[in-house]
Amino acid sequence: MSDSTDTVIERILELQGCDPRPHGPSRRLLVSDPEGFGAILHSTAFERTDFVGLLAGPGLLASDGDRWRARRRIVQPAFPPRRPEAHLEHIEWAMPAFIERLEDLARDRRPTCLLEEVTRIVGRIIYRSVFGIEIDPADHRIARFEPMLHAAGELMLSLVTPSGRVDGPLVDRVRRTRIAADEEIDWILERRRTRPVEGVDDALGRLLAAREEGLIDDEGIRDEVRALVLASTETSSNSLVWCLRLLAGRPEIRATIEQELDADDETRLEAAILETLRLYPPVWSNERQATVAIELANQQWAIGDRAVLSVYRLHRDPALWPDPDRFDPDRFIDPEGGPRRPPHRFAYLPFGAGRHLCVGRNLALLEMNRILRTILGRFRIEFEDPDAIEPMLGVVIRAATPITVRVAGRDPLQASEPPA
Ligand code: HEM
Repeated sequence: MSDSTDTVIERILELQGCDPRPHGPSRRLLVSDPEGFGAILHSTAFERTDFVGLLAGPGLLASDGDRWRARRRIVQPAFPPRRPEAHLEHIEWAMPAFIERLEDLARDRRPTCLLEEVTRIVGRIIYRSVFGIEIDPADHRIARFEPMLHAAGELMLSLVTPSGRVDGPLVDRVRRTRIAADEEIDWILERRRTRPVEGVDDALGRLLAAREEGLIDDEGIRDEVRALVLASTETSSNSLVWCLRLLAGRPEIRATIEQELDADDETRLEAAILETLRLYPPVWSNERQATVAIELANQQWAIGDRAVLSVYRLHRDPALWPDPDRFDPDRFIDPEGGPRRPPHRFAYLPFGAGRHLCVGRNLALLEMNRILRTILGRFRIEFEDPDAIEPMLGVVIRAATPITVRVAGRDPLQASEPPA
């Protein structure tokens, strides 16, 4: 990436850090140190604000208190934290079509949109593992949520930057795109009812069972499906794109990963994934609101004050991460071998912390691992103009313009071979 890399982000974060109302009610105060993050995310005196709810409705991602606790209890068992391999079957189910697609692209050498390619496989994995339904590889259904995700991104930017304006047309657009997303949710619910994948312990199955017990109603199920889509797709697919982009800029690291993968060693691949999530944390900013007057994180908080939690700043703090803008997966590898811990318990929070810790983190990490392993083990992704790629903030950190790539086989013979 060019020297100007991340200037867009820096500018927005600077704005975000300037509090337009430092003395008034409902102040917005920036938090970007690890102690502050730990204190606020673990405090019962701080709750979620309404801002994520505005993006996708009051699902698990946006709620707090008793309602959140009840919903989390329903969904959590579908994501067993100590059995990440529970998701492996779904990922492996989606992989052959993905490989076939990449082989096609490598044969034709035609340019393609990288984000769209990875979103297709992420979408198929999510539909099967979270909603219990199988999608045909040619059916890019997850794209039906894209207008909602884009409008939500715009709204998010307006909400977190003091100069941003949430005007009527934007709110209307979010509402309209949400109606379109709900048509897809109707389809998901109908398909789940008529053609469920047998033997899958999926989140939607758990929500439907909870409805039978009177623990949630139809509207609640819709809110949760919308939240699960918002939480699970753009986060993973943009992280995959950033990882490939970062590796394209450091061919020596990519080569080491390829060699390690050939020897069935994933140490550096895993570290590259963690390092990507440090530099481009999809949830780059978050908010919490004080529910009582309290002194916490070296700050006096009044009821209603908002803590703006800048994960992006935390992850690039030079006091924690030397040469913070440098892509260096070795930060996460212990010189003695094995993984290395972050420099502080709360210095590295791509999946959050405390009671709202991401429910899908194991699924996300495993799917990123398998998708990247497949790509790096067999293919080369050639970027047209990598230095022109600028990051942009929305719901997640994404590229400002679509990234066009060509696919090649890693072994040139493999790419030119006709299909069997
Ligand atoms: C790279 C991928 C992902 C990243 C970086 C990520 C990040 C996060 C973060 C930071 C939070 C905490 C938000 C907060 O504190 O308010 C969160 C919550 C959540 N995530 Fe993820 N996530 C990812 C993938 C997924 C996936 C694949 C799923 C589900 C299939 C998922 C489902 C959720 C849910 C339901 C919550 C709300 C948890 C709660 O409040 O109890 N996420 N995620």
